Amino acid sequence: MCGIFAYTGKKGKNASGVLLKGLLSLEYRGYDSAGIYLPERGSVKTPGAVAELRKKIPKDFKGKSGIAHLRWATHGEPTEKNAHPHADCEGEVWVVHNGIIENFRELKEKLGQRGHKFKSDSDTEVIAHLVEEHLTTGIGFEKAALAALNDIRGTYGIALQYKKEPDRIIAARMGSPIVLGLGAGEHFIASDPSPILPHTRKVVFLEDGEVAVITPEKHRIFKLDATDVKRKATKIDWSAEEAQKGGYEHFMLKEIMEGPEVIENTLRGRLIPAKGLAKLGGLEGVTKQLEKIERIIIVACGTAYYAGLVGEYMLEEHAGIPVEVELGSEFRYRKPVVNERTAVLAISQSGETLDTLEAVREGKRRGALTLGIVNAVGSTIARETDAGVYNHAGPEIGVASTKAFISQLTALALLTLFLGRQRGMTAQEGKKIAKELQALPAKLAKLLERKEGIASLARKYSDSRDFLFLGRRYNLPVAFEGALKLKEVSYIHAEGCGAGEMKHGPIAMIDEKFPTMAIATKDSMYEKLISNIHEIKARKGHVIAVATEGDKEIAKLVDDVMYVPETLEMLSPILNVVPLQLFAYYFAKGKGLNVDRPRNLAKSVTVE
Ligand code: F6R
Repeated sequence: MCGIFAYTGKKGKNASGVLLKGLLSLEYRGYDSAGIYLPERGSVKTPGAVAELRKKIPKDFKGKSGIAHLRWATHGEPTEKNAHPHADCEGEVWVVHNGIIENFRELKEKLGQRGHKFKSDSDTEVIAHLVEEHLTTGIGFEKAALAALNDIRGTYGIALQYKKEPDRIIAARMGSPIVLGLGAGEHFIASDPSPILPHTRKVVFLEDGEVAVITPEKHRIFKLDATDVKRKATKIDWSAEEAQKGGYEHFMLKEIMEGPEVIENTLRGRLIPAKGLAKLGGLEGVTKQLEKIERIIIVACGTAYYAGLVGEYMLEEHAGIPVEVELGSEFRYRKPVVNERTAVLAISQSGETLDTLEAVREGKRRGALTLGIVNAVGSTIARETDAGVYNHAGPEIGVASTKAFISQLTALALLTLFLGRQRGMTAQEGKKIAKELQALPAKLAKLLERKEGIASLARKYSDSRDFLFLGRRYNLPVAFEGALKLKEVSYIHAEGCGAGEMKHGPIAMIDEKFPTMAIATKDSMYEKLISNIHEIKARKGHVIAVATEGDKEIAKLVDDVMYVPETLEMLSPILNVVPLQLFAYYFAKGKGLNVDRPRNLAKSVTVE
């Protein structure tokens, strides 16, 4: 978690202005506290996010270089004392850090014995003291930083600055993302490219175990053992404006409304409808290996995990491949049976989720082919997997994932078509899926026109404190996702349940104060869902149904209906989840909550 941003320039720009503006685009990574250090002026820190920091910064707080940070607390309370940047005893070595230093307690004790005085509870502070300690041997800042990096264990994206060499900033990466921005007479370090883009599109992604030194004119990359690394810059072509709200009150609503465009972008250039084929350029290099794959293990977390569960139904039913779906956080802690005929497929919006990344690495260690469905181009999972499919959903800023889920399901449908046609899916079936995929953007656009109706439903149920979400088969993961959306943005109790499981326990909760969202579109499980709805009504429970347009019968049975256009059962989650996303959005908005930044959550979970 956490966002870091650092700048060094020759002249002209005001470093604190550059850094504060940059931090704003990193706010999705954490907002517990914010801080900035300029060697020419010192540090300013505060609990809260950038707006709070801005208020505390004096007018003359100007300089040519500096480092800045947004924190998502791991070690130590989100107080000013624990806000980054952290310094050594003399206030000369300063550090911002994203990640966790696992051996900080033992280092802190040793440094304490050597007379170092610590001011915070943060694990990060040991890094500054370690550099200070190595500086006493006279080896200079760069070597002292390298020695300190070799002392620490854990995950980090770091930027370090030394008051006596204000032009120079040192970055390092181990498990947490770091990207360098290469401008003319100015260089940047950040957790992702967004704060760099207004200044330059030329970036270099650091790999784990690499260190970089930037000055206004130069950058140099080397490994922890000091050997040089040569890497070409990448040109980033998405615009910083894409990350703006585009007229909507919240990113979450904007991103839900982008759904039709997101599906189009995920499909672009990847369908050959006349032949019923999918063309996935990112998998071309591994086509032969894919033919030999006997099993797929999908690894993911949260919303991406629920997308994976839908993928399991798609791939098993239509491509005939055995699929398991594993939480990234569990996979590497059991002894998974994996071999070279297994593909481990990671699904991740950010491409930086540590649990998912580690599951990929575990799969690799065990000889699996590793694949990714990833949104963030150049992210760690995208780089470490053997092959993959980019979502092309554009940056997702709202902490609650919405458009990424739509895109993940679309990409999984493409993958099903791609693998299915390799394994005996008929051209006719392929054509049917391809045709319906193409029809989805217009269907979703039509559904989104009804958002005001969903807003009024959210108002109607605004006093409810609990919700049950029911679904079956393809729409069981949609029930899980609907519940997750509601709880993460509204902080109320919601649980997803297989409709067939209801009688094994959850039905005991039902009464007139405990409404149920039933995903009851016209598919192979429709009749069964209707029976479950009867059972709930018999216990005085209120039911809101997600139902297929034209289904007038269901309206007589339930209290409220959210209609969705008809589509193939395998694609129905792509439409059915949207009313649930909108319901969660309006429900939370009605409570006056910070929909885009729910408490205790961060967008990119780069800690275990
Ligand atoms: C929920 C949400 C999280 C993420 C999860 C995985 O709305 O956003 O559950 O889905 O943290 O993140 P990625 O997809 O970046 O790996």
